[in-house]
Amino acid sequence: MPQNYSFSATDRQRKMYISGISGKRPEIPTDLNELEAAAQSAMSPQAFAYIAGGAGIGKTIENNRSAFDQWRIVPRMLRDVSHRDTSVELFGRKLAVPVLLSPVGVLDMAHAEADIAVAKAASTLSIPMIFSNQASRSMESCAAVMGDGPRWFQLYWSKSNELVASLVHRAEASGCEAIVVTLDTTLLGWRIQDLDQGYLPFLRGKGIAQYTSDPVFQRLLDEPETEEAPKPEQINLATIQTLIEQVSNYPGNFWQTFRSKRSMAAVRTFVSIYSRPSLTWENLAFLKEQTSLPIVLKGILHPDDARKALDYGMDGIIVSNHGGRQVDGAIGTLDALPGIVEAVNSKIPVLMDSGVRGGADVFKALALGAKAVCIGRPFVYGLALGGETGVSEVIRNLWADFELTMGLSGCKNIDEINRNMLTPA
Ligand code: FNR
Repeated sequence: MPQNYSFSATDRQRKMYISGISGKRPEIPTDLNELEAAAQSAMSPQAFAYIAGGAGIGKTIENNRSAFDQWRIVPRMLRDVSHRDTSVELFGRKLAVPVLLSPVGVLDMAHAEADIAVAKAASTLSIPMIFSNQASRSMESCAAVMGDGPRWFQLYWSKSNELVASLVHRAEASGCEAIVVTLDTTLLGWRIQDLDQGYLPFLRGKGIAQYTSDPVFQRLLDEPETEEAPKPEQINLATIQTLIEQVSNYPGNFWQTFRSKRSMAAVRTFVSIYSRPSLTWENLAFLKEQTSLPIVLKGILHPDDARKALDYGMDGIIVSNHGGRQVDGAIGTLDALPGIVEAVNSKIPVLMDSGVRGGADVFKALALGAKAVCIGRPFVYGLALGGETGVSEVIRNLWADFELTMGLSGCKNIDEINRNMLTPA
Protein backbone atom coordinates (compact mmCIF):
# COMPACT_ATOMS: atom_id res chain seq x y z
CA MET A 1 0.00 0.00 0.00
CA PRO A 2 2.60 2.65 0.87
CA GLN A 3 4.18 2.49 -2.60
CA ASN A 4 0.79 3.36 -4.09
CA TYR A 5 -0.11 6.32 -1.90
CA SER A 6 -1.20 9.01 -4.29
CA PHE A 7 -1.20 12.64 -3.30
CA SER A 8 -2.46 15.76 -4.97
CA ALA A 9 -1.76 19.18 -3.54
CA THR A 10 -4.70 20.71 -5.38
CA ASP A 11 -7.11 18.03 -4.06
CA ARG A 12 -5.92 18.69 -0.52
CA GLN A 13 -6.27 22.43 -0.96
CA ARG A 14 -9.74 22.06 -2.50
CA LYS A 15 -10.96 19.76 0.30
CA MET A 16 -9.76 22.19 2.95
CA TYR A 17 -11.67 25.07 1.36
CA ILE A 18 -14.77 22.94 0.86
CA SER A 19 -14.69 21.87 4.53
CA GLY A 20 -14.56 25.55 5.39
CA ILE A 21 -17.93 26.09 3.71
CA SER A 22 -19.51 24.10 6.55
CA GLY A 23 -17.41 25.92 9.12
CA LYS A 24 -14.75 23.23 9.55
CA ARG A 25 -11.22 24.48 10.15
CA PRO A 26 -8.07 22.34 10.09
CA GLU A 27 -7.28 20.95 13.53
CA ILE A 28 -3.58 21.17 12.83
CA PRO A 29 -2.53 24.71 11.89
CA THR A 30 -0.98 24.93 8.41
CA ASP A 31 1.52 27.59 9.56
CA LEU A 32 4.35 25.65 11.13
CA ASN A 33 5.19 28.54 13.45
CA GLU A 34 1.64 28.62 14.77
CA LEU A 35 1.93 24.87 15.11
CA GLU A 36 4.69 25.30 17.68
CA ALA A 37 2.56 27.64 19.80
CA ALA A 38 -0.44 25.30 19.54
CA ALA A 39 1.68 22.29 20.49
CA GLN A 40 3.08 24.08 23.52
CA SER A 41 -0.33 24.05 25.15
CA ALA A 42 -0.60 20.29 24.55
CA MET A 43 2.67 19.46 26.34
CA SER A 44 4.20 19.71 29.78
CA PRO A 45 6.65 22.61 30.27
CA GLN A 46 9.49 20.06 30.45
CA ALA A 47 8.44 18.38 27.21
CA PHE A 48 8.09 21.67 25.36
CA ALA A 49 11.47 22.91 26.63
CA TYR A 50 13.14 19.66 25.58
CA ILE A 51 11.59 19.67 22.10
CA ALA A 52 11.60 23.35 21.19
CA GLY A 53 14.80 24.29 22.96
CA GLY A 54 18.25 24.74 21.49
CA ALA A 55 21.83 25.15 22.62
CA GLY A 56 22.83 28.30 24.53
CA ILE A 57 20.89 31.42 23.67
CA GLY A 58 19.39 29.86 20.55
CA LYS A 59 21.39 31.65 17.84
CA THR A 60 21.78 28.51 15.73
CA ILE A 61 18.00 28.06 15.62
CA GLU A 62 17.78 31.67 14.39
CA ASN A 63 20.62 31.14 11.90
CA ASN A 64 18.87 28.11 10.45
CA ARG A 65 15.80 30.18 9.73
CA SER A 66 17.57 33.33 8.54
CA ALA A 67 19.68 31.29 6.09
CA PHE A 68 16.50 30.60 4.12
CA ASP A 69 15.85 34.35 3.91
CA GLN A 70 19.15 34.87 2.11
CA TRP A 71 17.66 33.34 -1.03
CA ARG A 72 14.62 34.27 -3.09
CA ILE A 73 12.79 32.09 -5.58
CA VAL A 74 12.42 33.57 -9.07
CA PRO A 75 9.33 31.89 -10.60
CA ARG A 76 9.24 31.17 -14.33
CA MET A 77 6.06 31.37 -16.45
CA LEU A 78 4.25 29.51 -19.27
CA ARG A 79 5.93 26.16 -18.77
CA ASP A 80 2.95 23.74 -18.61
CA VAL A 81 2.91 22.62 -15.00
CA SER A 82 -0.40 20.72 -15.23
CA HIS A 83 1.44 17.56 -14.09
CA ARG A 84 3.92 17.94 -11.27
CA ASP A 85 6.20 15.07 -10.36
CA THR A 86 7.76 15.58 -6.93
CA SER A 87 9.41 12.15 -6.83
CA VAL A 88 13.12 11.45 -6.36
CA GLU A 89 15.19 8.30 -6.10
CA LEU A 90 17.30 7.76 -3.03
CA PHE A 91 19.41 4.65 -2.38
CA GLY A 92 17.42 2.72 -4.96
CA ARG A 93 14.01 3.61 -3.51
CA LYS A 94 11.63 5.95 -5.29
CA LEU A 95 10.25 8.56 -2.88
CA ALA A 96 7.06 10.39 -3.85
CA VAL A 97 8.40 13.59 -2.30
CA PRO A 98 11.95 14.46 -1.17
CA VAL A 99 11.07 14.66 2.52
CA LEU A 100 12.11 12.35 5.36
CA LEU A 101 11.42 12.42 9.08
CA SER A 102 14.56 13.27 11.06
CA PRO A 103 15.37 10.95 13.95
CA VAL A 104 13.80 12.42 17.09
CA GLY A 105 14.22 10.84 20.49
CA VAL A 106 11.89 10.63 23.48
CA LEU A 107 8.71 11.05 21.45
CA ASP A 108 6.58 9.87 24.37
CA MET A 109 7.11 13.35 25.80
CA ALA A 110 4.89 14.58 22.95
CA HIS A 111 2.28 11.79 22.82
CA ALA A 112 1.62 8.46 24.53
CA GLU A 113 1.75 6.54 21.22
CA ALA A 114 5.12 8.11 20.50
CA ASP A 115 7.18 6.43 17.74
CA ILE A 116 4.38 4.01 16.88
CA ALA A 117 2.04 6.84 15.83
CA VAL A 118 4.83 8.36 13.72
CA ALA A 119 5.66 4.98 12.16
CA LYS A 120 2.01 4.51 11.16
CA ALA A 121 1.69 8.00 9.66
CA ALA A 122 5.02 7.79 7.82
CA SER A 123 4.38 4.36 6.33
CA THR A 124 0.85 5.23 5.21
CA LEU A 125 2.27 8.18 3.28
CA SER A 126 5.38 6.24 2.27
CA ILE A 127 7.63 8.90 3.81
CA PRO A 128 10.86 7.47 5.26
CA MET A 129 11.04 7.53 9.03
CA ILE A 130 14.49 7.56 10.58
CA PHE A 131 14.26 5.60 13.85
CA SER A 132 16.08 7.42 16.62
CA ASN A 133 18.67 5.70 18.77
CA GLN A 134 16.93 7.49 21.66
CA ALA A 135 13.44 6.33 20.72
CA SER A 136 10.67 5.72 23.22
CA ARG A 137 9.69 2.51 21.40
CA SER A 138 11.94 -0.18 19.96
CA MET A 139 12.68 -0.28 16.25
CA GLU A 140 11.06 -3.74 16.06
CA SER A 141 7.76 -2.46 17.44
CA CYS A 142 7.77 0.40 14.91
CA ALA A 143 8.71 -1.87 12.01
CA ALA A 144 5.82 -4.16 12.97
CA VAL A 145 3.25 -1.47 12.07
CA MET A 146 4.99 -0.19 8.93
CA GLY A 147 4.46 -2.90 6.29
CA ASP A 148 7.03 -2.16 3.60
CA GLY A 149 7.09 1.56 4.45
CA PRO A 150 10.59 3.01 4.15
CA ARG A 151 12.67 3.32 7.34
CA TRP A 152 16.26 4.07 8.29
CA PHE A 153 18.04 3.72 11.62
CA GLN A 154 20.01 6.48 13.35
CA LEU A 155 22.92 5.38 15.45
CA TYR A 156 24.62 7.06 18.38
CA TRP A 157 28.02 5.46 18.64
CA SER A 158 28.26 4.24 22.21
CA LYS A 159 31.36 3.16 24.11
CA SER A 160 30.53 -0.48 23.34
CA ASN A 161 31.25 -1.60 19.79
CA GLU A 162 29.33 -4.75 20.53
CA LEU A 163 26.24 -2.67 21.26
CA VAL A 164 26.84 -0.66 18.07
CA ALA A 165 26.99 -3.90 16.07
CA SER A 166 23.89 -5.27 17.77
CA LEU A 167 21.84 -2.13 17.03
CA VAL A 168 22.96 -2.13 13.40
CA HIS A 169 22.11 -5.81 12.93
CA ARG A 170 18.71 -5.25 14.53
CA ALA A 171 18.15 -2.34 12.15
CA GLU A 172 18.91 -4.61 9.19
CA ALA A 173 16.51 -7.24 10.53
CA SER A 174 13.86 -4.53 11.01
CA GLY A 175 13.96 -3.62 7.33
CA CYS A 176 15.94 -0.39 7.64
CA GLU A 177 17.39 0.75 4.32
CA ALA A 178 20.20 2.97 5.61
CA ILE A 179 22.20 3.63 8.76
CA VAL A 180 22.50 7.27 9.78
CA VAL A 181 25.39 7.98 12.15
CA THR A 182 24.89 11.18 14.08
CA LEU A 183 28.28 12.80 14.62
CA ASP A 184 27.38 16.04 16.37
CA THR A 185 26.35 14.62 19.74
CA THR A 186 29.47 13.07 21.22
CA LEU A 187 28.65 15.39 24.14
CA LEU A 188 25.30 16.88 25.06
CA GLY A 189 24.99 20.58 24.11
CA TRP A 190 24.49 23.27 26.79
CA ARG A 191 20.70 23.41 26.68
CA ILE A 192 19.61 26.16 28.97
CA GLN A 193 15.88 25.49 28.81
CA ASP A 194 16.46 21.95 30.10
CA LEU A 195 19.13 22.97 32.58
CA ASP A 196 16.86 25.61 34.12
CA GLN A 197 14.22 22.93 34.67
CA GLY A 198 16.83 20.42 35.84
CA TYR A 199 15.27 17.99 33.38
CA LEU A 200 16.96 15.31 31.30
CA PRO A 201 14.46 12.64 30.14
CA PHE A 202 17.02 9.82 30.01
CA LEU A 203 17.60 10.00 33.76
CA ARG A 204 13.92 9.13 34.13
CA GLY A 205 14.29 6.09 31.94
CA LYS A 206 12.72 7.84 28.94
CA GLY A 207 14.14 7.51 25.43
CA ILE A 208 16.19 4.39 26.09
CA ALA A 209 13.91 1.78 24.50
CA GLN A 210 16.47 0.82 21.82
CA TYR A 211 18.82 -0.04 24.70
CA THR A 212 16.47 -1.88 27.03
CA SER A 213 15.28 -3.99 24.07
CA ASP A 214 18.84 -4.92 23.12
CA PRO A 215 20.41 -8.25 24.12
CA VAL A 216 23.93 -6.78 24.40
CA PHE A 217 22.70 -3.93 26.59
CA GLN A 218 20.75 -6.38 28.76
CA ARG A 219 23.91 -8.39 29.24
CA LEU A 220 25.82 -5.24 30.22
CA LEU A 221 23.25 -4.68 32.98
CA ASP A 222 24.38 -7.92 34.59
CA GLU A 223 28.02 -6.91 34.62
CA PRO A 224 29.53 -5.35 37.74
CA GLU A 225 29.36 -1.55 37.87
CA THR A 226 32.46 0.19 36.63
CA GLU A 227 31.34 3.76 37.20
CA GLU A 228 29.78 5.64 40.06
CA ALA A 229 26.02 5.94 39.48
CA PRO A 230 24.47 9.44 39.42
CA LYS A 231 23.09 9.61 42.97
CA PRO A 232 20.34 12.02 44.06
CA GLU A 233 21.54 14.75 46.45
CA GLN A 234 18.64 14.06 48.77
CA ILE A 235 15.66 11.78 48.94
CA ASN A 236 12.39 13.73 48.72
CA LEU A 237 9.08 13.56 46.88
CA ALA A 238 10.68 14.52 43.56
CA THR A 239 13.29 11.77 43.93
CA ILE A 240 10.58 9.19 44.54
CA GLN A 241 8.62 10.47 41.55
CA THR A 242 11.72 10.11 39.37
CA LEU A 243 12.25 6.58 40.65
CA ILE A 244 8.65 5.65 39.85
CA GLU A 245 9.05 7.13 36.37
CA GLN A 246 12.21 5.10 35.82
CA VAL A 247 10.46 1.90 36.82
CA SER A 248 7.34 2.65 34.75
CA ASN A 249 9.40 3.43 31.66
CA TYR A 250 11.20 0.11 31.87
CA PRO A 251 9.53 -2.71 29.89
CA GLY A 252 7.76 -5.45 31.83
CA ASN A 253 6.13 -5.83 35.20
CA PHE A 254 6.36 -2.76 37.47
CA TRP A 255 6.93 -4.58 40.77
CA GLN A 256 9.38 -7.05 39.33
CA THR A 257 11.40 -4.18 37.86
CA PHE A 258 11.15 -2.28 41.14
CA ARG A 259 12.43 -5.22 43.17
CA SER A 260 15.22 -6.11 40.74
CA LYS A 261 16.37 -2.46 40.48
CA ARG A 262 16.84 -3.20 36.77
CA SER A 263 15.46 0.18 35.66
CA MET A 264 18.03 1.96 37.82
CA ALA A 265 20.77 -0.22 36.39
CA ALA A 266 19.52 0.58 32.87
CA VAL A 267 19.70 4.34 33.43
CA ARG A 268 23.11 4.01 35.08
CA THR A 269 24.52 1.86 32.29
CA PHE A 270 23.01 4.10 29.62
CA VAL A 271 24.58 7.20 31.16
CA SER A 272 28.00 5.57 31.32
CA ILE A 273 28.10 4.25 27.74
CA TYR A 274 25.75 6.21 25.47
CA SER A 275 28.34 8.42 23.81
CA ARG A 276 31.95 8.18 22.75
CA PRO A 277 33.62 11.59 22.56
CA SER A 278 36.85 9.94 21.38
CA LEU A 279 35.24 8.87 18.08
CA THR A 280 37.33 9.57 14.95
CA TRP A 281 37.07 8.96 11.22
CA GLU A 282 39.02 5.73 11.64
CA ASN A 283 36.16 4.19 13.65
CA LEU A 284 33.92 4.26 10.57
CA ALA A 285 35.71 1.21 9.13
CA PHE A 286 34.18 -0.86 11.94
CA LEU A 287 30.69 0.19 10.90
CA LYS A 288 31.36 -0.64 7.26
CA GLU A 289 32.38 -4.13 8.37
CA GLN A 290 29.08 -4.55 10.19
CA THR A 291 26.66 -3.69 7.41
CA SER A 292 26.14 -3.58 3.69
CA LEU A 293 23.49 -0.87 4.08
CA PRO A 294 24.32 2.66 2.94
CA ILE A 295 25.96 4.68 5.74
CA VAL A 296 24.90 8.31 5.98
CA LEU A 297 26.78 10.82 8.14
CA LYS A 298 24.51 13.30 9.94
CA GLY A 299 25.88 16.55 11.28
CA ILE A 300 28.36 17.50 8.54
CA LEU A 301 28.76 21.28 8.22
CA HIS A 302 32.21 21.80 6.67
CA PRO A 303 33.21 20.99 3.06
CA ASP A 304 36.45 19.37 4.28
CA ASP A 305 34.44 16.96 6.43
CA ALA A 306 32.28 16.20 3.39
CA ARG A 307 35.43 15.35 1.42
CA LYS A 308 36.54 13.12 4.28
CA ALA A 309 33.20 11.35 4.18
CA LEU A 310 33.98 10.47 0.56
CA ASP A 311 37.53 9.40 1.42
CA TYR A 312 36.18 7.06 4.09
CA GLY A 313 33.68 5.47 1.69
CA MET A 314 30.51 6.91 3.16
CA ASP A 315 27.32 6.73 1.11
CA GLY A 316 25.51 9.93 2.03
CA ILE A 317 25.55 13.10 4.12
CA ILE A 318 22.92 14.95 6.10
CA VAL A 319 23.94 18.58 6.50
CA SER A 320 22.60 19.21 9.98
CA ASN A 321 23.26 21.12 13.17
CA HIS A 322 20.78 19.00 15.11
CA GLY A 323 18.12 21.70 14.84
CA GLY A 324 20.40 24.11 16.71
CA ARG A 325 20.53 21.91 19.79
CA GLN A 326 24.27 21.29 20.00
CA VAL A 327 26.50 24.29 19.20
CA ASP A 328 25.13 27.77 19.80
CA GLY A 329 26.13 30.37 17.21
CA ALA A 330 26.75 27.73 14.53
CA ILE A 331 26.36 28.13 10.79
CA GLY A 332 22.80 27.73 9.44
CA THR A 333 22.51 24.50 7.48
CA LEU A 334 21.32 26.18 4.27
CA ASP A 335 24.42 28.40 4.45
CA ALA A 336 26.58 25.29 4.77
CA LEU A 337 24.83 23.35 2.01
CA PRO A 338 26.31 24.86 -1.22
CA GLY A 339 29.93 24.36 -0.12
CA ILE A 340 29.24 20.77 0.82
CA VAL A 341 27.37 20.05 -2.41
CA GLU A 342 30.34 21.43 -4.34
CA ALA A 343 32.82 19.35 -2.33
CA VAL A 344 30.81 16.17 -2.85
CA ASN A 345 30.45 16.81 -6.58
CA SER A 346 27.41 14.52 -7.02
CA LYS A 347 29.33 11.43 -5.83
CA ILE A 348 26.91 10.73 -2.96
CA PRO A 349 23.52 12.23 -2.03
CA VAL A 350 23.51 15.27 0.25
CA LEU A 351 20.44 15.76 2.42
CA MET A 352 19.82 18.58 4.86
CA ASP A 353 17.75 19.35 7.93
CA SER A 354 17.37 22.01 10.63
CA GLY A 355 14.86 24.80 10.22
CA VAL A 356 12.80 23.49 7.27
CA ARG A 357 9.35 24.99 7.88
CA GLY A 358 7.61 25.22 4.53
CA GLY A 359 7.44 24.23 0.87
CA ALA A 360 9.62 27.16 -0.17
CA ASP A 361 12.35 25.95 2.22
CA VAL A 362 12.28 22.50 0.61
CA PHE A 363 12.46 24.15 -2.83
CA LYS A 364 15.44 26.34 -1.85
CA ALA A 365 17.34 23.41 -0.34
CA LEU A 366 16.82 21.36 -3.51
CA ALA A 367 17.79 24.32 -5.70
CA LEU A 368 21.07 24.55 -3.77
CA GLY A 369 21.80 20.88 -4.39
CA ALA A 370 20.13 18.88 -1.60
CA LYS A 371 18.70 15.57 -2.76
CA ALA A 372 16.04 15.68 -0.03
CA VAL A 373 15.30 17.39 3.28
CA CYS A 374 14.37 16.06 6.70
CA ILE A 375 12.03 17.67 9.20
CA GLY A 376 12.22 17.35 12.97
CA ARG A 377 10.17 19.51 15.31
CA PRO A 378 7.21 20.12 12.94
CA PHE A 379 6.18 16.46 12.91
CA VAL A 380 6.70 16.25 16.68
CA TYR A 381 4.32 19.16 17.14
CA GLY A 382 1.81 17.40 14.90
CA LEU A 383 2.24 14.31 17.06
CA ALA A 384 1.63 16.32 20.25
CA LEU A 385 -1.55 17.81 18.83
CA GLY A 386 -3.10 14.85 17.08
CA GLY A 387 -1.06 11.63 17.35
CA GLU A 388 -0.81 9.71 14.08
CA THR A 389 -3.30 12.04 12.34
CA GLY A 390 -1.38 15.08 13.51
CA VAL A 391 1.88 13.76 12.04
CA SER A 392 0.12 12.89 8.80
CA GLU A 393 -1.46 16.35 8.55
CA VAL A 394 1.88 18.11 9.03
CA ILE A 395 3.57 15.99 6.37
CA ARG A 396 0.74 16.46 3.88
CA ASN A 397 0.64 20.22 4.47
CA LEU A 398 4.36 20.48 3.77
CA TRP A 399 3.97 18.22 0.74
CA ALA A 400 1.11 20.34 -0.69
CA ASP A 401 2.98 23.56 -0.03
CA PHE A 402 6.09 22.19 -1.77
CA GLU A 403 4.21 20.82 -4.77
CA LEU A 404 2.38 24.11 -5.31
CA THR A 405 5.58 26.16 -4.84
CA MET A 406 7.28 23.93 -7.39
CA GLY A 407 4.47 24.23 -9.95
CA LEU A 408 3.96 27.95 -9.44
CA SER A 409 7.70 28.47 -9.92
CA GLY A 410 7.43 26.77 -13.31
CA CYS A 411 8.99 23.41 -12.42
CA LYS A 412 7.35 20.16 -13.51
CA ASN A 413 9.78 17.90 -11.75
CA ILE A 414 12.63 17.91 -9.28
CA ASP A 415 15.32 18.07 -11.99
CA GLU A 416 14.03 21.47 -13.02
CA ILE A 417 14.67 22.87 -9.54
CA ASN A 418 18.19 24.23 -9.77
CA ARG A 419 20.37 27.14 -8.75
CA ASN A 420 18.98 29.27 -11.62
CA MET A 421 15.61 29.29 -9.85
CA LEU A 422 17.09 31.37 -6.99
CA THR A 423 18.60 34.80 -6.55
CA PRO A 424 20.46 36.04 -3.46
CA ALA A 425 18.27 38.30 -1.32
C1 FNR B 1 16.38 15.70 17.84
N1 FNR B 1 17.38 15.35 16.94
C2 FNR B 1 17.97 14.11 17.02
N2 FNR B 1 18.91 13.75 16.12
C3 FNR B 1 19.45 12.51 16.15
O1 FNR B 1 20.30 12.21 15.32
N3 FNR B 1 19.03 11.60 17.10
C4 FNR B 1 18.12 11.91 18.05
O2 FNR B 1 17.76 11.09 18.86
C5 FNR B 1 17.57 13.21 18.04
N4 FNR B 1 16.67 13.59 18.97
C6 FNR B 1 16.05 14.81 18.89
C7 FNR B 1 15.07 15.15 19.81
C8 FNR B 1 14.38 16.35 19.68
C9 FNR B 1 13.30 16.69 20.64
C10 FNR B 1 14.68 17.21 18.59
C11 FNR B 1 13.91 18.49 18.38
C12 FNR B 1 15.67 16.90 17.70
C13 FNR B 1 17.74 16.25 15.83
C14 FNR B 1 16.87 15.95 14.61
O3 FNR B 1 17.20 14.73 14.04
C15 FNR B 1 17.03 17.01 13.52
O4 FNR B 1 18.39 17.15 13.18
C16 FNR B 1 16.44 18.37 13.88
O5 FNR B 1 15.30 18.26 14.66
C17 FNR B 1 16.12 19.13 12.61
O6 FNR B 1 15.77 20.43 12.89
P1 FNR B 1 14.25 20.95 13.00
O7 FNR B 1 13.50 20.45 11.80
O8 FNR B 1 13.72 20.42 14.28
O9 FNR B 1 14.44 22.43 12.99
